[in-house]
Amino acid sequence: MKKLVVIGSGIAGLVAAVEASRTHEVVLVTKSVLAESNTHYAQGGIAAVTSSDDTIGEHVADTLAAGADYCYEPAVRVLCEDGPARINDLVNFGVEFDRNPAGDDWALGLEAAHSHARILHAGGDTTGADISNALVRAVRQVAADIHEHTFVSDLVLGSAGQVIGVELIDASGKHVVECDAVILASGGAGQLYRHTTNPAVTTGDGVAAAFRAGAELADVEFYQFHPTALAVPGSFLISEAVRGEGAVLLNRRGERFMAAQHPLAELAPRDIVARGIQAEMLAQGGQPVLLDASALGGEFLTRRFPSITAATRSYGLDWGRNPIPVTPAAHYWMGGVATDIWGRTSVPGLYAVGEVACTGAHGANRLASNSLLESIVFSHRAVSVLDEPWPTETSRVRFAEQGILAEIEIEDPSARTSAQGATAVVDRVELQTLMWDNVGLARTSDLLEATRRELSRWRPAAEENRLFTDWEDANLLVLATAVTEAAIARTESRGGHYRLDYPTTNPTMAKPITIVRKAR
Ligand code: SIN
Repeated sequence: MKKLVVIGSGIAGLVAAVEASRTHEVVLVTKSVLAESNTHYAQGGIAAVTSSDDTIGEHVADTLAAGADYCYEPAVRVLCEDGPARINDLVNFGVEFDRNPAGDDWALGLEAAHSHARILHAGGDTTGADISNALVRAVRQVAADIHEHTFVSDLVLGSAGQVIGVELIDASGKHVVECDAVILASGGAGQLYRHTTNPAVTTGDGVAAAFRAGAELADVEFYQFHPTALAVPGSFLISEAVRGEGAVLLNRRGERFMAAQHPLAELAPRDIVARGIQAEMLAQGGQPVLLDASALGGEFLTRRFPSITAATRSYGLDWGRNPIPVTPAAHYWMGGVATDIWGRTSVPGLYAVGEVACTGAHGANRLASNSLLESIVFSHRAVSVLDEPWPTETSRVRFAEQGILAEIEIEDPSARTSAQGATAVVDRVELQTLMWDNVGLARTSDLLEATRRELSRWRPAAEENRLFTDWEDANLLVLATAVTEAAIARTESRGGHYRLDYPTTNPTMAKPITIVRKAR
């Protein structure tokens, strides 16, 4: 039996481990506990066509429109076409999606930029936790060798450049596990930013390890900021589904402001709502805007959104009666390790699925509730081709079709030493603040150049003294550098990449920017 290492325990990793265990010897590695992942915190739900008045074509069209004329259409088609079958898989894994009051069908929610109510949810607003719990139960029942609290510091390559193992750090130290293939499912990098809806584990370790192994990254300049995080430390997510149910955004004068910005008002694509809120906040001296859900009534809100109700109560807020303060926060990375539509990266034997990957399905701005779907669809597809011969072209298939705007090579910032003039050890809060202020919702050439200069002064902590968090900081330094370089190169505005100095979309730039490590 061939040996597969799966890295990460969100929906993508758990599905990969369970499905691959039927045909492969599986080692599942996660740096915290199995249940701790971005998946666990997903509220809104998972989008898929399950009702007779909805169509795959409309789901495709909504995904393309939200993606700002930039999605890779073959990936979008796969995402939407495979979606219903993968929802059935989740049901078979024991996920109990909420049903309508009559109990004869699923209760489908509406979210921004969807033309139909097509969002399945569970436990009201605990969809991610319910999915995660079902998959954790499933993975414990299969023959997978599970390693929790284990950090993947690097991938090990063979002489032909193919993956032959992973380097792990756990309580017993550093060791190598040899394998025939690796599925990276280690999630995104919300911790690049000072304010994020993501949990502490999202430090982009998989993207950084793939970069060091020579894998091609793509679309890293496109970062999605969720419009509505509660304006409190920790940026608790207030699901888009709340606006889908009818809640509205108000400025401090109590006026709705989104209708003037987009015909879909509060339900416009996420990047537009997030920037609309930011503009309103700037106009009111940085004060958060307000989300008014009071017309929905306390009883409905408690039933439909139990975890948001509990969270707002813990801050002394009663959203059934009063508007609550909200602000944008970093939420989802459209970019990542470039793959083909089977999850294959540019490094033989290395697959990437879920937020760590960049299939091109989300374009420049992901449609709400397409992320859990992407994870399960592409995870399933990657497992289905594990035993196929590695093709000569993988991520390059997309680039051959879309063209390439720029191919950027960067030195590996995680290999930098003081001898190379890097005067300071990277500090996470400083990095997050720099990224939030300069490479966040609105970017300019001056801010990006200043970020490039600052990042080039930083180096990781010396390897022999590193704690887990130092390894993470070294990875964040790699990713901050990659995002900044790509953002400098994209001299237009599109989706999650907004340049104040280039505020319009340039149709000739609807092409990916790739990043690879400069050969040593
Ligand atoms: C939300 O509930 O608003 C988040 C869902 C998503 O990120 O798609």
